[in-house]
Formats: sequence, structure tokens, C-alpha cells
Amino acid sequence: KTTAAITGVSGYVPEYVLTNAELEKIVDTNDEWIVSRTGIKERRILKGEGKGSSVMGAEAVKRLLEKTNTRPEDVDLLICATVTPDYFFPATANLICAKVGIPESASYDLAAACSGFLNALVTGAMFIESGRYKKVVVVGSDKMSSIVDYTDRTTCVLFGDGAGAVLLEPDADGLGIQDFILKSDGNGASHLIQKAGGSAYPPTHETIDSRLHFIHQEGQAVFKFAVTRMADVSAEIMERNKLTGEDVAFLVPHQANKRIIDATAKRMGVGEEKVMLNIHKYGNTTAATIPLCLWDYEDQLKKGDNLILAAFGGGFTWGSIYLKW
Ligand code: ACO
Repeated sequence: KTTAAITGVSGYVPEYVLTNAELEKIVDTNDEWIVSRTGIKERRILKGEGKGSSVMGAEAVKRLLEKTNTRPEDVDLLICATVTPDYFFPATANLICAKVGIPESASYDLAAACSGFLNALVTGAMFIESGRYKKVVVVGSDKMSSIVDYTDRTTCVLFGDGAGAVLLEPDADGLGIQDFILKSDGNGASHLIQKAGGSAYPPTHETIDSRLHFIHQEGQAVFKFAVTRMADVSAEIMERNKLTGEDVAFLVPHQANKRIIDATAKRMGVGEEKVMLNIHKYGNTTAATIPLCLWDYEDQLKKGDNLILAAFGGGFTWGSIYLKW
């Protein structure tokens, strides 16, 4: 059976660093609160480099193609996971292809909030496993600063901007995606939502004055759901593949809150030295957190390592992937 392996990873984070100290000047918060509740010390914000998530996504893909010696014309499909597309249409994936010179490949966006990258990775892998495509690029790119309300201390401290990208190719030795669990429950929609700007509440002066174009999150409700569901699917995928904590080289969790990550690792029996973490420097970059972790930890990964990827986000959406590196 042909499997879909990750044969390259890259990322891009904007230059501007927004520290907790700087946020203290904008809203009534403090470094101690932010670090103890979330683990976040700073995050990156897209400013001078250009507008929109496609700018970061294109840079990540450009670096990925260079690094893997992939010619743009050989890419069969590019999927961009994002909740902050440059526009509703055309798709950010189309714009990324144009920016990096990928000519006329299939490309589209996929929206599943913080689980977007996992859903996009599985979608891309299906095209490889079926034998239909040979090179699929999966990008997670989010400019969360474009939908964050910097007068709301309960959300503005959490999010940052960034992009990560991977190349999927067929592998004859069985490396790559081994198993996955993807779930959603739209009954949780109201707990984490950008209410206005879409077809339900198109932009009006009223929606803008009511600040409905920004992220609205009921933190505790989301926390409770996230902490159980992310641990559940991570434990389930280990159980059905007969993996113990010892067998897992790394947990690659969505970076929303260090406390949620710690609880997931504990449930899996995975020691903290085996948990990929970069929330302290990037915050929650939504669809970009997992590829940015893989990019940061790439040097520590060995061929054949067992990785468990796990995410949770708005929707609600959640899931896990068992991957051999
Ligand atoms: N600085 C200082 N105080 C604050 C801040 C802040 N930035 N934010 C909230 N507070 C205050 C609150 O007002 C509250 O004060 P009160 O007790 O006087 O009312 C107090 O701190 C406690 O607030 P809680 O909301 O109970 O704090 P909690 O411990 O739940 O932490 C947090 C909040 C960090 C948001 C947490 O609930 C969380 O991480 N939730 C999950 C987030 C998540 O995983 N999102 C999913 C992914 S995102 C996506 O899909 C796009």
C-alpha cells in the first residue's frame, strides 16, 4: 500500500514581536496572568511584510520548495487551511500558488479552525494514497491579528500570526500517515465564533459597531471541551494502534493553551520532554501551529519516529493523526 509521507517542512513567522509587556500597555492584563494561564510569552504580528495570510503562506511554501528541490510546476495540489483568508474568494491557496509560481495546479482553501491543518493533511494524503497525485503541498496560514479585538483582554493575549507548510509524497516503505481520527460538532459553534462578515451577518455599520467581526470566545466552555476531547482522540488513536507512551517519539499538539497540552500528554503517558512546544514564542496561530512545531523540532526527528498530531478548535472540530516521520 502506498502511504503519504511528509518529505519536507517549512514555516514563516512575521518579524514583529508582540510581547506580554506590550499588551500590558493596551489592555488590563499582566505577564504573570498570561504565562500562568496559557504559557504564552510573545507572539508575531504581520505588519510591514504585506497584507493577508497569503503573504506568510507563500513565504513558507517558497522555502519548502527550495528546501526539497521541488519545481513549482511539479506540484499537483496545494491546500491552504485558514480561518483568515485574504478574501472569501478567490481562495488564499490560489493566491499562494500565483505568488510562488505554481502554474495551474489544483488549489483550494479548507476551513476547520484550529483543526484545519489536520483536516487538510488527511485530505492531501488521500490524493497520494489513491495514486492520483505525487506532490501535494499542505499549508496552514493564519493572520489572527486581523480578527482579534485588541480591546478584549480575554482573547487578544492568545493569538498570533504565522504559517507552516509540508510536502506530501508517496512512500513505498510505509512511512507517513498511518491512521487518523477527525471529528466535529457544530452545536459548539456559539462558544468560539467570528459572528459577522459572512452570509449570516454581512458587514453593516451596526455589526461593525457591535464588534461582531472579531473573535468571540467563551474561554471556560472551550477549555472544558478541548481538554477532554483532545486527550480522548489522542488516547484512542494510540490504543487502536497498540502504542504506549514509550513508543511515541513526540506529541505534536495544537498550541492553544499549555494547560490543555499538559493534560493531553499526561493522559497519553508521554513525558514532557516528548511534547513539541512553541506556544511561548508564537501563541495560537490557529492552522499554523502544528506545521510550525514540526519545523521548529525538525532537527530532533529521526526517520521512522512515531508522532501523534492532535488538535482542537472552533466548530467544534478536533482530531488526531498517527504519523511515522
Ligand atoms: N489578563 C488578566 N485577567 C484576565 C485576562 C487577561 N488577559 N483574561 C481574563 N482575565 C480574567 C477574567 O476576567 C476573570 O476575572 P474574574 O474572575 O474577575 O471574572 C479571570 O481572569 C479568570 O478568567 P477565566 O476565563 O476563568 O480564565 P481561564 O483560567 O479559563 O483562562 C483562557 C482563560 C486562557 C482563555 C482559557 O479558558 C483557555 O485557554 N480556553 C481555551 C482556549 C482554546 O483552546 N481555544 C481553542 C482554539 S482557538 C480556535 O480554534 C480559533
